[in-house]
Amino acid sequence: MSDQLSTRHLLGIADLTTEDIELIFRTADGFKEVLSRPIKKVPSLRDITIANLFFENSTRTRVSFELAEKRLSADIVNFSSSSSSVKKGETLIDTVNNILAMKVDMIVMRHPDPGAALFLSRHVDACIVNAGDGTHEHPTQALLDAYSIREKLGKVKGVKVAIVGDILHSRVALSNVHCLKKLGAEVMLCGPTTLMPRHAAALGVRVEHDLDKALRWCDVANMLRIQMERQGGDGIANFPSLREYAMLFGLDRARYERIARDIVIMHPGPINRGVEVTTDVADHANSIILDQVQNGVAVRMAVLYLLAAGIPRDHSGA
Ligand code: CP
Repeated sequence: MSDQLSTRHLLGIADLTTEDIELIFRTADGFKEVLSRPIKKVPSLRDITIANLFFENSTRTRVSFELAEKRLSADIVNFSSSSSSVKKGETLIDTVNNILAMKVDMIVMRHPDPGAALFLSRHVDACIVNAGDGTHEHPTQALLDAYSIREKLGKVKGVKVAIVGDILHSRVALSNVHCLKKLGAEVMLCGPTTLMPRHAAALGVRVEHDLDKALRWCDVANMLRIQMERQGGDGIANFPSLREYAMLFGLDRARYERIARDIVIMHPGPINRGVEVTTDVADHANSIILDQVQNGVAVRMAVLYLLAAGIPRDHSGA
């Protein structure tokens, strides 16, 4: 059983081995225990400096990474493109190299362009953590999602997970498919034809366009956010109206009760309440939406801790 990741960066789940994911989960278990203590802090990364670069809006991921870094005693700097010299035309590489010149060891980056984290990893000398790159991957979200399923159901292998909604624009969907399949779950993608990638079945998943059938099949329903900002036009270019979407692909109390058995409800957030899920479903006893958020801190601590092991450190005191 290895105690090291097989990769220097976390760019996507596609690059991780099953052993990497299991190591992250075991490490996160330890950090969950730390987070339950009165003093929720360990000195593991006190010689590491991390820059959080957010070129796109975020609440959960940004706050969760920042808390994880603080709990590990790292030094941190936060950068938001809206208040930076990016607005004056500075390129991504110039921005990052200027930040690295101030002796930063790790970069946590969210960016609207797919492949931005990979691009950065090839052009700068720092450990890169992808906090979401356009419609491509959101690896720490998939890790915390699978970790939360494991916590709730005691396993991931053999669990039937339906990922529902705007699959076409979702980095969470792709990362979840990779992560769940590596852990032995059965995965179904469910959504309107217009929000389903044409070659979805090639990912080795079931594809379904009827939400009621998907709900009858699954143990877990992960209800994805409609990515209004990526639809084009007025935000609903791929379906007639939000009302129709909610009627066909939204989960409300009546639809949930028709399943007549307990299934776990997930959502990566932010929720469009009344569209993907109604408030009574989001706040239902079988919803683990806030557990996902809580587990995000321990999982991100694990990722940062394990990646930091690959960073050369000078302990000479010079
Ligand atoms: N789940 C998620 O990525 O949320 P944020 O966009 O708020 O970070």
